[in-house]
Amino acid sequence: MRMIDIILKKRNGLALSSDEIHFFISGLVDNSIPDYQTSALLMAIYFKGMDARETVDLTRAMMYSGEVIDLSGIDGVKADKHSTGGVGDKTSLVLGPLVASCGVKVAKMSGRGMGHTGGTVDKFAVFPGINMELSRETFIDNVNRVGIAITGQSAQLVPADKRIYALRDVTGTVEQISLIASSIMSKKLASGADVIVLDVKTGSGSFNTLESARLLAKTMTEIAANMGKKAVAIITDMEQPLGYAIGNALEVQEAIDTLRGGGPEDLREICLVLAAEMLMLSGFAPDETVARKILEEKLHNGEALAKLAELVIAQGGDAAAVFDPTQLPKAVCSIALAARQSGYITHLDARTIGNAAMQLGAGRKTKEENIDLAAGIVLHKKTGDFVHAGEVLATLHAASMEKISGTEELVLSAFAFGTEKTETQKLVLGREGIF
Ligand code: URA
Repeated sequence: MRMIDIILKKRNGLALSSDEIHFFISGLVDNSIPDYQTSALLMAIYFKGMDARETVDLTRAMMYSGEVIDLSGIDGVKADKHSTGGVGDKTSLVLGPLVASCGVKVAKMSGRGMGHTGGTVDKFAVFPGINMELSRETFIDNVNRVGIAITGQSAQLVPADKRIYALRDVTGTVEQISLIASSIMSKKLASGADVIVLDVKTGSGSFNTLESARLLAKTMTEIAANMGKKAVAIITDMEQPLGYAIGNALEVQEAIDTLRGGGPEDLREICLVLAAEMLMLSGFAPDETVARKILEEKLHNGEALAKLAELVIAQGGDAAAVFDPTQLPKAVCSIALAARQSGYITHLDARTIGNAAMQLGAGRKTKEENIDLAAGIVLHKKTGDFVHAGEVLATLHAASMEKISGTEELVLSAFAFGTEKTETQKLVLGREGIF
C-alpha cells in the first residue's frame, strides 16, 4: 500500500477502506509517513469528507494508536463526560461530585485549558497539593473507594491525535466534522468509560454553529454506538459565558456555590440536564423527573459538596477551601468596570470575554505557558439585563494593574447595548443519542 494512492483516492472523492485508514494511522505513529503527506490527506478529507463507516474506522484506528485504559477493575457502570469547550464552563466540577454522590462511578480524564477555553485539570489546581496525574492503579483504586477520580490525560493516550491535531492546527483543517469527532471520541473511548455524556457547545464561545453542533453530536453518538458504548450528546448554548465567573479559582467558587444548592441559574440547569443523562444512561434513574429529584436532593443535603471534598483529599489535596471558599487563591489587583452607557445588554460575546480572561492571566496561549489561578473576570450583568451608565458590568482580577488596564477595553467591547430587551438564547438546543 502507498500513501500517495490513499491521498489520490480521497482527493478524487472516494471512500477509503478500513485497511487504508489503518495503514495511514500506523504509518503516522511509526513515522514512516511524512507530515507533508499527512497534511495533504487531511486537506483532501477537509474538502471531500468521510462517510459514517470511514469516520468510525478512523476513530477506532486512532483509539488503538496508543494506550487503551482498562477500567474493568472498577465495579459497576463507569461514566465520563466531555465538553467541546467553552467560556466559564465549570460543569465538570459540579457534575462529577454530584453524579458520584448518587452512586455512579465517575472515571474522568480531562485536558488542560487552551486559548479562550478553560480546562478542568487547571481548575482543580486551586486545591494545594492535589495530584492530577494519578497512576493507573491509584485512578482505579480511587474510583472504587471514593466513587470518583479525575486525572489529566496520559501522554500515551491516542498519540495519533497529537500528531494529527498539531498538523490540523497549522494547515487550516481543524473545522471538519469527521476529524473533530474522531479526535474527541478516540480519546474518550480510549479512556475506558462505559457511558459517555457529551456537551456540545454552540455559539461565539465555541467552534460550532448550531448546524455543525447538531452534526457533530450526531456523528459522535453514532461512533459510540458503533463501538458498543452508550453516549448521549446535549447541544448547549455558549453565545455568552456560562455562569458569572471566568478564571480558575473564581470558577471553583461558583461551582462550590452550585454544589451547595445555589449558584447561577444557567450553570445549575446545564449541570442538572447533563447529570440526569448520566444517571439515566448508567441505569440509576428511569427518567428525567426521577433523576432530577435525586440530584436536587444531593445538592440540598450537602452530599454532593462533601463528595468534592472527598475527591480532593483522595488525590492528596487540601480540601479546606471546599467548605471555606475565602481560602481560594485571590488576585492582588481587582477593579470594577463601569458601563459607559445605559441600556439593555443585547449581546455578551463569550469568545471576547474568554480572550480577555486569558489576557488577565487565567488561560494559556501556548501549551507551555503558566496560568494565574486567581486571575479572571466576574460578570455582574449578562444578556437581557438593564444597566445604568456607571453601574458595574464586571470585576477584573489579575496580578498587576498593567494587565487589568490593558484588558478593560476588550471586556467593554464584549457588551452590546440596545433600547429593547432581547430574548436570551435557550440553554439546551438539542439532544442526540443512539443505543
Ligand atoms: N477537541 C478535540 O479534542 N479535538 C478537536 O478536533 C476539536 C476539539
